[in-house]
Formats: sequence, C-alpha cells, structure tokens
Amino acid sequence: ERGGVIMAPSMTPFLPTISDEKTLRPSFVRDEDERPTVAYNEFSSEIPVISLAGIDDVHGGRRAEICSKIVEACEDWGIFQVVDHGVDAGLVEDMSRLARGFFALPPEEKLRFDMSGGKKGGFIVSSHLQGEAVQDWREIVTFFSYPLNARDYSRWPNKPGGWITVAEQYSEKLMGLACKLLGVLSEAMGLETEALTKACVDMDQKMLVNFYPKCPQPELTLGLKRHTDPGTITLLLQDQVGGLQATKDGGKTWITVQPVDGAFVVNLGDHGHYLSNGRFKNADHQAVVNSNCSRMSIATFQNPAPDAVVYPLAVREGEKPILDEPITFAEMYRRKMTRDIELAKLKKLAK
Ligand code: SIN
Ligand code: FE2
Repeated sequence: ERGGVIMAPSMTPFLPTISDEKTLRPSFVRDEDERPTVAYNEFSSEIPVISLAGIDDVHGGRRAEICSKIVEACEDWGIFQVVDHGVDAGLVEDMSRLARGFFALPPEEKLRFDMSGGKKGGFIVSSHLQGEAVQDWREIVTFFSYPLNARDYSRWPNKPGGWITVAEQYSEKLMGLACKLLGVLSEAMGLETEALTKACVDMDQKMLVNFYPKCPQPELTLGLKRHTDPGTITLLLQDQVGGLQATKDGGKTWITVQPVDGAFVVNLGDHGHYLSNGRFKNADHQAVVNSNCSRMSIATFQNPAPDAVVYPLAVREGEKPILDEPITFAEMYRRKMTRDIELAKLKKLAK
C-alpha cells in the first residue's frame, strides 16, 4: 500500500485494463534501478508457510510451536504465509470472484466510484504519490471496513451483486484472524495477549483490491512500487499468478513469493516494527506484472486508530528505544509520506 496521498488523474483516465497498446506509456517507465530483476513466476519458497491448526490450543504445545515459527519469520522477514487459518474457503472464493467481477465492469461503472477529488474510498487508476512522476501499472478499489462507523457504503462497490454482504463477512473474519496473530506476537514480546490490539486503540481496517492488467512491457515497470506498509499488520490474498516480491540480504536481493492456494500472506508494517522496538521487520515489498495474464490481490490493512500512540511496547535489556519520543500514528504516517516525497525529489535532482 502506498497510503492515501493520491494525485487527481486527468479528466479521461487511462485504464490499463482496456488498453491494447503494444508499448508502455512513458508515464509508467521506471528508472533502471527500480525495474524488476526477478520475474513474476520465478518463485522462491524461502518465505515460511505456517499452519495455524491448533493455535487456540493454549494448553497443548501447538500454540507455542506456532508462536515460535511466527516470531522467527517476523525477525527474519517480516513476512510469512498462513494456512489452516480458519477463514472459510467458500467465502474467500466469493470475495475473489466479486473483486475480479468489479474490474471487469465497463469503465463508466468503475468510475462511478472514482475517488479522485479527495473522496474517502472508491476506485482509482494508476494511483501515485504526490511528488512522484512514475505510475504503477494497476487499478485499485479501496474501502474502509473498521471501525464500523467508518463504513460509508456509498463508497463500497455494489456490483457485481452481493458485494456488500460478502465484503462484510470477509472483513469480519480477517479482523478475527489479524487479532489472533497480534495475540501471538504480543505473547512473543512477553506481553499480555491483548497488548498489541490495545495499542491500536480502536483498530482501523481498510481493504484494498489491486488489479494488475496484462502489461505490454513488464520489464520496464512495476505493478506496485517498493514500499513498506505503514500499519500494524497486513493480510494479503493473492491469486496463483505470482508477482509479490520481498527483499532479503538487507534489501539487496528480490525474491518472488510462491503463491500458495488458500493461504494469506501476512506482513508486518511500520507500526508493528516500532511496537516491537525493531525486533520484527517491516517487510520491504513490491509487485511486478507480466505480459501473459492479469493478476489480482486483496490487501486487508490493520492499522491503529489515527491518534493511537506509537512507541515501543517492549524494549529488551541492552536495547534503546528506536523512537525518540511517543508520536501518534497520524504523525508517524505524515513523517513517512514527507520522507518519501523528499527522497523522490532528491532522486530527481541527482539525475
Ligand atoms: C500490496 O503491497 O498492497 C500488494 C502487493 C501485491 O499485490 O502482491
Ligand atoms: Fe504493501
């Protein structure tokens, strides 16, 4: 996710979905140092796949076993996949089908939810950050699902039929799964099970569906630029195409995450990283595209309330807090965006 600062598109937005152009538009061409180095289907199975079967079994050894696997994954990668997570496969299937159906709608239907002009939630093409010149090869639809009073159904897609009912069920199940994972991470930090969810105050949840159309020159562009998510934890559902990439070796090497049927990819964001005093990594990731087929992913972002305090919850012996002072999540987010814009400006100047 790149956050909320999105530039207004031109009057007649270019929809990659319906483009049959043979060369990439210049606005999508990345600088050489940002272009993909590993293909969308060159899969790596290095990212741990963890079964959550038995996670509620607090007295048996299974919870402790799962807990240590998750902790190891968070320390090494900040990203892992979960299976046997308890979210009904039929529900996941319905959500995916509806999401695909939305992007297949005629442009005028999608543009009814156009969120340019500062609307909270809706549809947008090739979103990009302010101050950034290059566009991502994607269309997105996003909507706020928690807290409940943030649900503005006029900004939720209502086509294909059934969207609202299915999306409500899906968001509730994913909120439950996220809280379960945060419980394990709290325990791993030596805190009470509820510590992380409490630190989020009234947890926000935002859903974002990414649709990456077939791309004529995928080697020159990205579906979604390199970033870390700002929030606590993200649950990502991806299809079997592949395209999600994470870094290793301190950001030097990219790997493509192997899609696992029925799994959610879990990644920690900046908030999770700060609360753990840097012990858990905030996953550095991006999405690449391809010329063979389109790809879809559904990201569910679990964020703290905007005025929740961001400060390490557990500082281990011999460590210093990685933040100088407590700040609000809104302030943390503002600083991240300012930093990104400054970096983009510096890069432009250096050229
Ligand atoms: C994201 O980072 O929000 C999505 C990445 C993906 O599409 O795999
Ligand atoms: Fe992301």
